[in-house]
Amino acid sequence: MNPTDLEKQAAAQAAAELVESGMRVGLGTGSTVGFLLQALADRSISIECVSTSPQTEQLARSLGLVVHSFSGVDGIGHLDIAIDGADQVDPAGWIIKGGGAAHTREKCVAAAADRFIVIVSHEKLVSRLSAPVPLELLNFGLAATLANLETVQLRDVPPSPDGGIIADWTGDVSDPEALAATLSATPGVIDHGLFAPDMTERVVVAQGTTTRHIMIKG
Ligand code: 5RP
Repeated sequence: MNPTDLEKQAAAQAAAELVESGMRVGLGTGSTVGFLLQALADRSISIECVSTSPQTEQLARSLGLVVHSFSGVDGIGHLDIAIDGADQVDPAGWIIKGGGAAHTREKCVAAAADRFIVIVSHEKLVSRLSAPVPLELLNFGLAATLANLETVQLRDVPPSPDGGIIADWTGDVSDPEALAATLSATPGVIDHGLFAPDMTERVVVAQGTTTRHIMIKG
């Protein structure tokens, strides 16, 4: 395994230790989460999960994890903990997610959880966030939404499982709070990949053989 994957695995294993039997657990998306799923399966504890993507759901089920629906009024509405990877984490705890295009579902799952835990290899810690910021856009009025956003590029990937168009903001990210507010207020933007610091309990980061927990809130 390459050094980055070893770090992803170490961070994932450390976060899996935060999960206790009986918990409802939100599962993120991406390669770091792949290591998390294996670590959770290895612990053989009784947990109920919801997934942020078909890929995660398929892998989780193949490892024997129980995955429930997060859709519809009968879906699970509250989670004890959610664990997910990230693309960038800045010193204030602002996070960019959505490299795997699952950021809208990932934000919904993180917001439904008492505790949101982010797991990263050390190169994801950055001194300043930079583009791209992933976007999910409504297909209706897409040309108008793109014109309003100006600095945006469509991503050459299929629509999200919810039918959203995946794109990336390519402009200035020096003020993430202002940018998050602008993107959220733009009609046609379903959601964006900026996660505010108040969403995240901690970032579990691995560097070499050392794993540490950076507390963001609480
Ligand atoms: C998917 C994500 C991922 O968590 C993020 O892109 C990190 O991916 P990886 O663990 O493969 O480095 O936000 O939408």
